[in-house]
Amino acid sequence: MNDVEETLALFKINQDQLQLVKGRMRERLEEGLKSKSTSTIKMLPSFVYLTPDGTERGKYLALDLGGTNFRAMLVRFKKQRYRLYHKIYTIPLEFMQGTGEELFDHLAQCICDFLDYMGLKKARLPAGFTFSFPCEQAAIDTGTLVTWTKGFKATDCEGHDVVNMLQEAIKRRNEFDLDIVALINDAVGTMMSCAYEDPQCEIGMIAGTGTNLCYMEELKNIEKIDQRNVPTKRDEETHEAEEDKQNAGANKKKTEVNSVVSKMCINTEWGGLGDDGCLDDIITSFDVEVDKNSINQGKQRFEKLTSGMYLGEIVRRVLLDLTRRGLLFKGHVTETLKTPGIFETKYLSQIESDRLALLQVRSILQQLGLLSTCHDSIIVKAVCGAVSRRAAQLCGAGLAAVVDKIRENRKLDHLSITVGIDGALYKLHPRFSQVLKETVRDLAPQCDVTFLPSEEGSGKGAALIAAVARRKQEM
Ligand code: GLC
Repeated sequence: MNDVEETLALFKINQDQLQLVKGRMRERLEEGLKSKSTSTIKMLPSFVYLTPDGTERGKYLALDLGGTNFRAMLVRFKKQRYRLYHKIYTIPLEFMQGTGEELFDHLAQCICDFLDYMGLKKARLPAGFTFSFPCEQAAIDTGTLVTWTKGFKATDCEGHDVVNMLQEAIKRRNEFDLDIVALINDAVGTMMSCAYEDPQCEIGMIAGTGTNLCYMEELKNIEKIDQRNVPTKRDEETHEAEEDKQNAGANKKKTEVNSVVSKMCINTEWGGLGDDGCLDDIITSFDVEVDKNSINQGKQRFEKLTSGMYLGEIVRRVLLDLTRRGLLFKGHVTETLKTPGIFETKYLSQIESDRLALLQVRSILQQLGLLSTCHDSIIVKAVCGAVSRRAAQLCGAGLAAVVDKIRENRKLDHLSITVGIDGALYKLHPRFSQVLKETVRDLAPQCDVTFLPSEEGSGKGAALIAAVARRKQEM
């Protein structure tokens, strides 16, 4: 094995290791459901009990904060169809990392602009707020931020109710009113938007800037929630009876209503796997450096191995090391190569594309100020491949743990289930999805998993949850 191969070998994970990762994920998923859990996987109840049934109607506002952008959307449902209008606003770094008040004032300003643009300032629409960070919820329409993840660290937000913070910012502005009826994680929105198309969809997964997964868990297994606050079967039956009057095709609804009272969607926050050191055997020195230089050191270790915010940075650190050892770029360590964050994950997707000739790889590297030979491009491509393959395999191992858990929950020999999925890594990377699917197939052979890429997960999903939540409020 030559020196480059030795470095690449650090990123290889064999079947046995993947089985171990699956097992560790499973243990922490179970642990996280307990009442006084200290699990690194938070397993946050979402208070979403049911998936949409196609009866959703009306106009909703959907707000989405999770990455570098904030999106404001208007979603209109009509006869099993929907229309969505949106506007994207960038969140400048000074707001992401400034004070909470500044951040939420900025969001209120964006919403105001959107309502102006749509001519809806006086409408007081029900809104679903997709907030893609871990929130401890006690109801569908409130949630305390547990900790910031990804690039955010605005002060005075952790430990506070983010719905309240947004409402306060709207009040300070005193120009419009909003009725925030649901707070939703993006994984949950993704599951809901896909469940609208496919009733077998009971898992939502994000493989993008961050990584996460949610799924429908049996209520009886969620020790940490007060089962007395859960909607009772009778509530649901009353609701069902009302709907039956209006809806002749009631049979489909009966099955759904039964599942309403028995399950709740859990936002796993699986990005926290490994924060207790359980992934240390696969973590390389490059990952350790990425973690050390992040704004949340020691946190989200699984996320740092698997998601878009970090993969490019891992690659850059490997390239830097190979260059320092004279194995790449003729040993020229440029300022570019030393700059954190310069190698964005989108370059991995481009470089690994089979359609791209080596010459084009060289031109991408050149744009990054890296002068490469043909041989260098082969190495760079191999490094990208090793890092993204490991990411997809790890996500596959995690997902295998979840589908097997659901299968065992239901005491089935064989489970057929759909995963609603979103995120640039899944949608744009040329190999991630394939490796993810292969890994799940190998590690959970008794499950037949279909992947459904979500369409507008955070918009349509949030609006659907708002619709369902409002239906409950009105009952
Ligand atoms: C991070 C957040 C999580 C979110 C995920 C994907 O892991 O903590 O809430 O779902 O990113 O955006």
